[in-house]
Amino acid sequence: MEQRMKVGVIGAGAVGSACLLSLVLRRSAREIVLVDRTRKRAAGVATDVRYGATLAGAVDVRDGDYADLAGAALVIITVGVNEKTGGATDRSDPAGRLRLLDTNARIYKDILPQIFKAAADAVVLVVTDPPDPLADFTRRFGFKRVLSSGTFLDSLRLRFHLAQRLNVDLHSVDAQVLGEHGTSEVLLWSGARVGGAPVLSVLGRSEQERDEVRRGIEREVRYANITIIEGNQASQYGIGMVSARIVEAVLFDERVVIPIGSFNPKYGVTLSLPSILGREGWSRSLSQRCRSKNAELFNAAPMPFAALLPGSIAFSRASGSWRARELIAITQYRRCSPSRSLQCQRRLVRT
Ligand SMILES: NC(=O)c1ccc[n+]([C@@H]2O[C@H](COP(=O)([O-])OP(=O)(O)OC[C@H]3O[C@@H](n4cnc5c(N)ncnc54)[C@H](O)[C@@H]3O)[C@@H](O)[C@H]2O)c1
Repeated sequence: MEQRMKVGVIGAGAVGSACLLSLVLRRSAREIVLVDRTRKRAAGVATDVRYGATLAGAVDVRDGDYADLAGAALVIITVGVNEKTGGATDRSDPAGRLRLLDTNARIYKDILPQIFKAAADAVVLVVTDPPDPLADFTRRFGFKRVLSSGTFLDSLRLRFHLAQRLNVDLHSVDAQVLGEHGTSEVLLWSGARVGGAPVLSVLGRSEQERDEVRRGIEREVRYANITIIEGNQASQYGIGMVSARIVEAVLFDERVVIPIGSFNPKYGVTLSLPSILGREGWSRSLSQRCRSKNAELFNAAPMPFAALLPGSIAFSRASGSWRARELIAITQYRRCSPSRSLQCQRRLVRT
């Protein structure tokens, strides 16, 4: 079978540029086309990276139009307003990234037909916030293989903080954040391991100390993007590296298991579960069992279970406990078009 190694990056802003740079430095692809509504911007970024790319190995980097995506195995979409511009940087706002949904869904409406015309069979990686509902939107448009960057980055953040706290190498820590990429995401504490041992058993000497540590780590992970934006206007480098890693898994058919967002027929929405990732994109999610409700919901989002987001859905299903509120949330979410789900969210928060 022909091995296609061409990747398209849509958006030459902070995130698109970081994706491009990471793809080049990690040698994730052989050919990369950068597209932006401002062609001059794409040309500037591509030219800049191209000169340095000489040091990285054989990779062709160029700016282009949508038609130039023809033959791409994977297209990363990063266009849209970010949290800073879209006013989604308030930690106490339960809507979080969903505030960007209406605006970014409109932008997607504009660009998806153009991508489809050139690369209908490409794997599409949705990075724009909020990535999970936008991935649903992209799938509904007609793309067959759609991924959301989901909670892969959040899981790396969790592993980082656990490794730091335990003073061990990050690769010795296995921990996952599941559900939605957003403030209702679920940190799977009961599944976190260090060298095979449950993290919870080594996180502190007393229950009180463990709770304090967990509280602190939850805060860091859940609001990492806001902390980054407060210092640097946009969060881009982490997601750039994560996107390049996802591209590698697809292009090299790695069949690696990572937490990544894909449409889950069981829940009727896109959410992140540990999933097998290879040439066809997502191929299977592995179901998760939570040890107990309290283990995972410890210090959860400020509005516990208020959101209609997939995170709470995933959790309640996994823990086998359905609450009326989640049922309403799921029904509402399913009925929602992406552009309406912010309204639904607001309604639910009030109930
Ligand atoms: N999934 C994640 O983990 C994650 C992490 C960081 C940022 N993001 C999201 O990525 C998105 C991009 O963020 P950013 O900081 O790069 O923003 P940015 O403003 O720097 O760049 C956005 C780019 O999109 C382009 N664009 C806008 N509308 C377009 C259209 N109709 N057609 C083509 N191009 C268009 C703009 O020209 C600009 O270059 C945001 O939604 C942000 O919240 C997601």
